[in-house]
Amino acid sequence: MKGVILAGGLGTRLAPLTKITNKHLLPVYDKPMVFYPIQTLVNAGIKDILIVTGGNNAGDFLRLLGNGKDFGLQHINYTYQEGEGGIAEALDLAEFFADGESICVMLGDNIIENNINQAVADFRAQGAGAKIMLHEVDDPTRFGVAEISGDKIVAIQEKPKAPKSNHAVIGIYMYDSDVFSIIKTLEPSERGELEITDVNNAYIDKGTMTYEVLGGWWTDAGTFPSLLKASNLVAKTGANKV
Ligand code: G1P
Repeated sequence: MKGVILAGGLGTRLAPLTKITNKHLLPVYDKPMVFYPIQTLVNAGIKDILIVTGGNNAGDFLRLLGNGKDFGLQHINYTYQEGEGGIAEALDLAEFFADGESICVMLGDNIIENNINQAVADFRAQGAGAKIMLHEVDDPTRFGVAEISGDKIVAIQEKPKAPKSNHAVIGIYMYDSDVFSIIKTLEPSERGELEITDVNNAYIDKGTMTYEVLGGWWTDAGTFPSLLKASNLVAKTGANKV
């Protein structure tokens, strides 16, 4: 399985911090934000990694990460997103890199206490389809929210006003190579983006989506409260425990 980190976007919810740099280069306690998702993938044994970024600061990723020596890697792949078309549009840029293999996609502002090793092993055994990770939260209206029936997700609503559960869909997604043909069928949402939630709902409709609930803490870091929370959690317990 190959890994894809999505680290583009304008980071408008963190302006003015993001006026002169990319959100994923901002500090979370003692490291740049993007270090955490890379470590999550590496800990799960995923060593062939693509960073998708964009904007004026794309070159800074190369200077910061180089060939991945800080993570015990010998090489990191990079690609450039023109404009601002959403998570699914950014993911579409990984088609050439994936080259028919399954991928584990992680949003560059998601940070976890523990690891995804079991989920990755389970998805390898699953062989096809998709797997997403859920986490119980107090404020589900900020996220994609899973409607669950028995051991199946029946639908995901993106930032619902009346959430059907408190299970947020976190920014770690595993897909087979069908994901790229699904992305090509998507229409932009009300916020003008190709939504990852629409990709996930396509797999749910096909009946090939599985899920796991992630233990330990999880947070994103794309707003001021969550950026502060992320730094405090990392300072208190550390991240990416194996
Ligand atoms: C994105 C996804 C959302 C998911 C969240 C996790 O939201 O659209 O479904 O729950 O990441 O971090 P965004 O950060 O674009 O608001």
